[in-house]
Amino acid sequence: MPRAHLTIDPHFTVGPIDRRLFGSFVEHLGRCVYDGIYEPGHPSADDEGFRADVIDLVRELGVSTIRYPGGNFVSGYRWEDGVGPREERPRRLDLAWHSTETNEIGLDEFASCMKKVDGELMYAVNLGTRGVLEALDVLEYANIRSGTRLSDQRAANGHPEPHDIRMWCLGNEMDGPWQLGYSTAENYARLAATTARAMRQIDPDLELVVCGSSGAGMPTFGEWERVVLEHTYDNVDYISCHAYYEPEGDDLASFLASGVDMDRFIDAVVATADHVKAIRRSEKTINISFDEWNVWYQSRYNEVDKITDVADWPVAPRLLEDRYTVLDAVVFGSLMISLIRHADRVTSASLAQLVNVIAPIMTEPGGPAWRQTTFYPFSLTAQLARGVALELKLDSPTYTTVKFGEVPVVDAVATIDPDSGAVTVFAVNRSLTDDVTLDIDSAALAGSVSSATATSIFDDDIHAANTLEQPDRVRPKTNDSVTLGDGAIAVTLPPCSWTVLTTE
Ligand code: AHR
Repeated sequence: MPRAHLTIDPHFTVGPIDRRLFGSFVEHLGRCVYDGIYEPGHPSADDEGFRADVIDLVRELGVSTIRYPGGNFVSGYRWEDGVGPREERPRRLDLAWHSTETNEIGLDEFASCMKKVDGELMYAVNLGTRGVLEALDVLEYANIRSGTRLSDQRAANGHPEPHDIRMWCLGNEMDGPWQLGYSTAENYARLAATTARAMRQIDPDLELVVCGSSGAGMPTFGEWERVVLEHTYDNVDYISCHAYYEPEGDDLASFLASGVDMDRFIDAVVATADHVKAIRRSEKTINISFDEWNVWYQSRYNEVDKITDVADWPVAPRLLEDRYTVLDAVVFGSLMISLIRHADRVTSASLAQLVNVIAPIMTEPGGPAWRQTTFYPFSLTAQLARGVALELKLDSPTYTTVKFGEVPVVDAVATIDPDSGAVTVFAVNRSLTDDVTLDIDSAALAGSVSSATATSIFDDDIHAANTLEQPDRVRPKTNDSVTLGDGAIAVTLPPCSWTVLTTE
């Protein structure tokens, strides 16, 4: 059996794991909001129309921040349509998703929903078709206590307490030709810098995210980051990264190595941010908000283009409702490994998205809610990756991929909880055929490991998924292969699997 070798030494750390790494994303898209988290007629709906069963699953998932309200949607959004008496709210055309937006849910309702899930709201302003003034208006409405027109309006709308939103995204994917208001780096950078400076006059402590590239494959990638940061460096805290992965044809070997691409993407953005830092002789470091990431079978459908007749754009159509398999969950888990490995610079991340739309949670109108396969690597990582990410020495057999060259068969990351000393290892086996034994040298943990247990996601059928009919077809399984010796732990990683190993 092939073997990989991992050395853990608690003295070598990457950095503390920010809880914001376990964020998610809710966009007014398809059935994410309407007929998703919000369905007033559903038997489990609370007095505000939010589904209690979905709220429970969101809490179980363990998300920290939630980015809202888009996405591409935000670039055509007027935030004020979504506040005030519901009967006066306009229906609008949503150009991003060829849908009709009813505005039944807006900032106040979503802020209330965030309380139910114990999360932090991260708000995106529209810099696609709007500008500085509208960003200042929504900031005033959301965060000023009282005594101004918009803060008093919020109170009159039934929300006397400010929402106190700390993290703000300055637009969305402004480098993408599909984006309303798509821009050159220079033009976007000037607008983002002016907006950031103005917002910070109201509150200098706001945490601001400037748009990076919408993917490492964009023709302007790298140069976009440099130009945008040169203009905004002093006024923002984060630059965003977005990445979605799917197999090309039957090239599952490359798909399984998607984490390699994410590693390279992060390293490139960090290098660019630090290049700008050096040029500016700045003391400040810009971190990454990886605020859209997931597996997404984007090229499989053209659902939005099929909605043509503008007289008939639907409310909450079924869009981007990917059904995730065991294979997808393994890739997904490996993306989380990549994020944690960069915990020193990726200090915020948002799984795109939360409910129904490329989501870990699915719902049926009037029916049940269930967990997709990807729910499990997320919830287990959010629950168990506590404390500090460790720098590891990992020796693994390799294999050759079409897209990324030679890559390790096993990838892993470890975290340590400084309070309890407990170490947790997250690992993937990318081989489609072979078990791999992971030998963990834990001698540096000074004999403090008295027990180790492992849970894995794998299946004889890597295409197995959870569905309405079979919501529990795929669940994590106890991995009984763990052995504990003197300063050594071993665990067998099944083919195409994701594993978490905890020690005490
Ligand atoms: O998450 C789906 C879409 O992907 C978002 O609206 C957009 O920002 C990205 O292209």
